Amino acid sequence: MRKRLILTTAIAAVALMALSGCSGGRADTSGAGDTTGFAADATIGVALPSKTSENWVLAGGLFEDGLKEAGFTGDVQYAGASTTVKDQQDQISAMVTSGAKVIIIGAQDGGQLGTQVQDAHDAGAVVIAYDRLILNTDAVDYYVAYDNFKVGELQGQALLDGLAAVKPEGPYNIELFSGNSADANAPVFFNGAMSVLQPKIDDGTLVVASGQTDIKQTATADWKPENAQSRMDSLLTSTYGSQELDGVLSPNDTLARAIITSVKAAGKPIPIVTGQDSEAESVKSIMAGEQYSTINKDTRVLVAQAIDMVKTLQKGDKPEVNDTESYDNGVKVVPAYLLPPVIVTKDNAAEAYANDPKLAPLTK
Ligand code: BGC
Repeated sequence: MRKRLILTTAIAAVALMALSGCSGGRADTSGAGDTTGFAADATIGVALPSKTSENWVLAGGLFEDGLKEAGFTGDVQYAGASTTVKDQQDQISAMVTSGAKVIIIGAQDGGQLGTQVQDAHDAGAVVIAYDRLILNTDAVDYYVAYDNFKVGELQGQALLDGLAAVKPEGPYNIELFSGNSADANAPVFFNGAMSVLQPKIDDGTLVVASGQTDIKQTATADWKPENAQSRMDSLLTSTYGSQELDGVLSPNDTLARAIITSVKAAGKPIPIVTGQDSEAESVKSIMAGEQYSTINKDTRVLVAQAIDMVKTLQKGDKPEVNDTESYDNGVKVVPAYLLPPVIVTKDNAAEAYANDPKLAPLTK
């Protein structure tokens, strides 16, 4: 229910209200996959968005290797850097034409793939939304992701904890950043964080000194760090000439580092800044006492979960899901397998990354 409401807000935020006439979504837990399966070496398409964060870079390689190891013919594509939506639409169409049996999609723009996923369905392929939900179509069968609302809640709580650790009493001046509005995750992260922060704004503990609390004002076009950096530059000039900035809600690590760069360039003390993704540069920044927190959403586990779904479908069985009510895409509730995100600060970094050969050495 909670996320259903949230997603309705999300859809409104991306001006897709026209679809809200669709009676609030129908619980469809059947999904596809109750078929006779397909060849063990079938083509599996993986359409990933542009590489706006390290997790996407990692996912591509992990899908290539994992699908190959499982005996499938993987076709892994990324949307390019400029004509991203069209790139991805064309890539999915090509996967359909080449006879892919499952198409796994990390959507560049969750609201603009309706035609392509419908074509995929019509051709008998199963569509799995990976990390980002695909909106306003019933031709998406499964969703596999970390619990996005929980990510936001953890970010909001980390911001409060970090502020309290520096200065026991408020009020604290904070600023809010959110992600790209075409990404269905962006409003879910933001709403998760605001579910924790809003009561503290209401009671005066937190002050958004710029007054910019609406997701349209806080959005970061295309998840680009330069956009977050220039918005932070403007906020510092307009609002923080004399007063102190205590904290910043940042939706991910790439943007967190851009925000910190802006603050440093202005010669101001670094505020409490949240993040997400456990990017190597941010883990280093956390260990150096600059960025305050990140979120561990181990890409290895998420890709493995998606590949497990493919293996199950290949046998003609239905993949396991653990959530059949949260992710209403505007037309249906998409059966989801959600993984738990983990908050990471300097205090638990060594423990959180103990089994990650790339990140563990950074915490020593
Ligand atoms: C992902 C985040 C990532 C962001 C930008 C989101 O959809 O869930 O992990 O930071 O995209 O790439």
